[in-house]
Amino acid sequence: MSKPKVLITRRWPEAVEKAMAAIFDVTLNIDDEPMSRAALQQALRNYDAVCPCVTDSMPEDLFAVDDCKTRIIGNYGVGFNHIAVDAAKAKGLVVTNTPDVLTDATADLAMTLMLMLARRAGEGERQLRAGKWHGWYPTHLMGTQVTGKTLGIVGMGRIGQAMAEKAHFGFGMRILYHNRKPIPPAESRRLQAEYCAELTWLMSKSDFVAIHCPSSPLTRHMINEKTLGYMRPDAFLINTSRGDVVEEQALIKFLEKGLIAGAGLDVYEQEPRVPEALLKLENAVLLPHLGSATEEIRVAMGMRVLGNLNAFFNGEPPPDQL
Ligand code: DGY
Repeated sequence: MSKPKVLITRRWPEAVEKAMAAIFDVTLNIDDEPMSRAALQQALRNYDAVCPCVTDSMPEDLFAVDDCKTRIIGNYGVGFNHIAVDAAKAKGLVVTNTPDVLTDATADLAMTLMLMLARRAGEGERQLRAGKWHGWYPTHLMGTQVTGKTLGIVGMGRIGQAMAEKAHFGFGMRILYHNRKPIPPAESRRLQAEYCAELTWLMSKSDFVAIHCPSSPLTRHMINEKTLGYMRPDAFLINTSRGDVVEEQALIKFLEKGLIAGAGLDVYEQEPRVPEALLKLENAVLLPHLGSATEEIRVAMGMRVLGNLNAFFNGEPPPDQL
């Protein structure tokens, strides 16, 4: 029996490309350039499985191909807002993602942003590299203490809970969270996490607000001029989820005017475009979508896609079917 034809739309770590090629008839995107819409649509005609990632936009009309050969979309990543999942399903396709494996890596990066912001690490590094550090003095780049402060988590799923754990047990932080529903009581007792039904209440009580909810029509621009207005001038915002949860222009205004103390961002509304105004702000720590970017985790994500495809082509339900 011939092997299923699989397209991987961007380069993956070598170990997983090899593991995939050992099982499937794999086509790689050797140049690693994002694929065009036309190329993605053609892929739906040519391959049994397409494995996209966050840089591949697959809107509803992309799936309007008459001669669709693809039966499974094995997304490389946990977030899937770039794929019109309902349209794919309506066409009879199965869609999978890669949850769990990147939970800690993403929470670690949110912690990195929180610490960098509070301790002005970006500013300090820029100053030193520019040859502008002239020695220690008592009032040099004084930041904010993290230990013992209040962290408000918006979206208490896997990644939100992992950050709560690190912040509470590692830094003695008080945890508030806003979520569609409270987490199980035993878990909330363990983390001493307090549920806030009102997002604005959490925003007003937190020293740090970390966004961990997925992007959806419900969460788009949930952090906007109105909700930001509840934050205190000494509070910080952190986003490692998706850019469109935060209304970027409103955030820029708040940072420029010092209405909040700072923002740590790993994601942007129009990646890879980062607004010029944001680049100019000393009180912003800006990373290029690195949440899951460790060697171990990028391999684990690929293995998760492999597991999903393998199950599917063996006639079993893929573990991470959406
Ligand atoms: C994820 O897994 O969602 C990462 O943000 C990359 O897509």
